[in-house]
Amino acid sequence: MAIRHFLSTQDLSRDELERLLDAADGYRNTKFGDALRGKSVALLFLNPSMRTRTSFELGTWQLGGHAVVLQPGKDAWGIEFAPNAVMDGDAEEHIAEVARVLSRYVDLIGLRAFPKFVDWQEDRQDKVLKSFARHAAVPVINMETILHPCQELAHAMMLRDRLGTKDFRGRKYVLTWTYHPKPLNTAVANSALLIATRLGFDVTLLCPTPEYVLDEQFMQQARGNVAESGGSLSISHDIESAYGGADVVYAKSWGALPYFGNWGPEKPIRDAHRHFMVDEAKMALTNNAVFSHCLPLRRNIKATDAVMDADYCGAIDEAENRLHVQKAVMAWLAGPAP
Ligand code: CP
Repeated sequence: MAIRHFLSTQDLSRDELERLLDAADGYRNTKFGDALRGKSVALLFLNPSMRTRTSFELGTWQLGGHAVVLQPGKDAWGIEFAPNAVMDGDAEEHIAEVARVLSRYVDLIGLRAFPKFVDWQEDRQDKVLKSFARHAAVPVINMETILHPCQELAHAMMLRDRLGTKDFRGRKYVLTWTYHPKPLNTAVANSALLIATRLGFDVTLLCPTPEYVLDEQFMQQARGNVAESGGSLSISHDIESAYGGADVVYAKSWGALPYFGNWGPEKPIRDAHRHFMVDEAKMALTNNAVFSHCLPLRRNIKATDAVMDADYCGAIDEAENRLHVQKAVMAWLAGPAP
């Protein structure tokens, strides 16, 4: 039987998605369990993390398991991912051995591997995650590559709580680009687009220029999602009309895809849109919207203090939910389906 990985929420049926969220809701009230008793999890971080690392380590322990955290290239050997590579560079071992050896030790493998930000045509293929999944003999969990599916589940759980429903049809969801001095990963924006369209929201992608529209593979998946869920999808570059009547505002900064590997010309465009920062005046245009962000967030750059400290900000709840949803994902992959 094929191994069931957790690489994208698009791989889950709508029913599985709902059951995972229900299971996560259960973990909110029942902190400890034995779903991972006697089991172990390897968590590989090729990039920094605070929330993901803490919530996966704690979640594993709370379910009776043991987590091993590795940072290849820092406290573990650097890994080569290219097939047939002549390994005369820095990497000491190949993914073909790493994934198979870890599969002999542990029951689940989590991986964080951001894009290299040099060539989007290469990064958009998510080869590092796919090669782990191909070589591993145990389930692999995406802890953020070009998607962040664990964040999606945590976000969906927060929206269920804040909007008091599981049926989001007819609600307006604004995914807004916001300012950051550096070009960041598109993963959370891609993921927000997928989950909001999957849940049936009327989604507006608000970004400075057409160059900031997300990768076509995810736009296409989002269009497929709304066709099924009864939602809608539009693109806007106009702040006032996009925020108008919104029920949810989700903010994220990301680099414009055409500039991957040549970020110089993107900088002036980015800097000309500092006013995309989420502030009280923009939130006043909404239908008392819930605001959120995946964190980490630079205050008064991406969103103001007033927005982050407002009752309508769900970012801390969403961060807490990472613990609950990941416990549900790990319990599912290590045992029977929820
Ligand atoms: N949101 C999120 O994944 O946070 P970390 O980068 O701190 O893990």
